[in-house]
Amino acid sequence: MPKSTITFVCTDCGGESLRWSGQCPHCQAWNTLQEFQVRKAPGSRSRRSQPLTGATPTPLTDLEIDAAPRRALAWGELNRVLGGGIVPGSLVLVGGEPGVGKSTLLMHAAQQVAGGGGKVLYASGEESPQQIHMRAKRLGAIQSGILLFAENDLDAICEAIRSEAPQLAIVDSIQTVTDAGFEGSAGSVTQVRESAGRLMRLAKEIGVPIFLVGHVTKDGAIAGPRVLEHIVDTVLYLEGDRRQELRVLRAMKNRFGSAEEIGVFAMGEGGLEEVPDPSSALLSQANTTSPGTAIVAALEGTRPLLIEIQSLVSKTDNAMVRRTANGVDVNRLHMLLAVLEKRAELTLGRSDVFVNVAGGIRITEPAADLGLALSIVSNVRNRPLPDGLVVIGELGLAGEVRRVGQLERRLTEAARHGLVRALIPAGLKAGRPSGLEVIEVRTLADAISAAFSSPIPSGAFIEEAEVSVS
Ligand code: TYD
Ligand code: MG
Repeated sequence: MPKSTITFVCTDCGGESLRWSGQCPHCQAWNTLQEFQVRKAPGSRSRRSQPLTGATPTPLTDLEIDAAPRRALAWGELNRVLGGGIVPGSLVLVGGEPGVGKSTLLMHAAQQVAGGGGKVLYASGEESPQQIHMRAKRLGAIQSGILLFAENDLDAICEAIRSEAPQLAIVDSIQTVTDAGFEGSAGSVTQVRESAGRLMRLAKEIGVPIFLVGHVTKDGAIAGPRVLEHIVDTVLYLEGDRRQELRVLRAMKNRFGSAEEIGVFAMGEGGLEEVPDPSSALLSQANTTSPGTAIVAALEGTRPLLIEIQSLVSKTDNAMVRRTANGVDVNRLHMLLAVLEKRAELTLGRSDVFVNVAGGIRITEPAADLGLALSIVSNVRNRPLPDGLVVIGELGLAGEVRRVGQLERRLTEAARHGLVRALIPAGLKAGRPSGLEVIEVRTLADAISAAFSSPIPSGAFIEEAEVSVS
């Protein structure tokens, strides 16, 4: 029997502790520590004596520069997030909430590899072969190059990957895989981490890229992808509102590319489709004539995106006011509301504030601050922002409008999509795209006057809010 020692691993942050405690010493989350068996497998010292790749120290000058040839997929959106394509021998984790579309996305990837003459092994412990077949049929992915393997025993999966030596192996999901050499049920921290570790070594040893599906769940019962982030080469998260079309695949870590890129897809009857021009898709649905709507230009990875933000401010008699933010950080919203109260004299203390980013997109950039603030002012005043306006700028606590990176690219994107004016932080050095009226502002108050072309009449909020409530 192999010897084993016990440590404890946090299901939230993946941090390890030698002793159990109620609170994770790394991320301070409560009740997240799970027992983890570190097994000293028979001859486990062999891990040290048998180096992974047989590599020896090599002078940098002797290394081949193009060391990572990639297999590009048919979808540019997927290649972008992967850093240019699939790297042989890489271990990629695709995380996301159940039902968001992970299996669908990977079946599309399988189809694209098989379509290019490659072989794909799709190991699934989640669904029956019938279910997977049905999905594949819907996606038009019935191909002889895709081998389906309904299995959740890790030994069997590793053996199949070794003997088939496919161009891509998919394990759906890592939470259903069990390594018979370890105790604990599928999905426990021990099983998930050990299985991923073994798949990593296998991928590196035989050069087969392996994609793992990992479900993100809020109740730490199943070990989430967080515990795997340290192990794998690349972590991609598929996000999106299940009731809406758009899905964003976001790189959170990438040893072979930028960890800031996103790919955008739309879920439809025939599975996912890539959305190479998300700004168009987002703007086509924008309702810019209603008070409370602003268009911002947020930079996601290397690409500027024009995104619609909507705000709704409504008076309430409840003692507790509500602040709900979909697609923006709620703490950021709190900060902006405080800045609006102090610097723009909006009285929001007795109002509920709801913010929604259209299309289920999540904005991670402060460059959307000013647009969000103006959408709130617009709703409070019951006056739409000017037609064809894009708002760009970060807001500081003093109400100053701060500069943001890559302003020129954001403006170009706005002009390309037919927007006609832009509110931006002062100090633009680069050229202005033609067809775009550029208004530079230094403060929130400046921005409000520019957007509504008149100074704020004091007390305006109270009257107008009462009108909109009645
Ligand atoms: P799935 O890939 O099974 O999600 P996950 O593997 O992340 O759990 O996709 C689940 C949802 O996607 C399901 O609710 C239905 C929807 N869907 C479509 O709308 N169209 C399609 O063609 C497919 C295959 C799925
Ligand atoms: Mg699935």
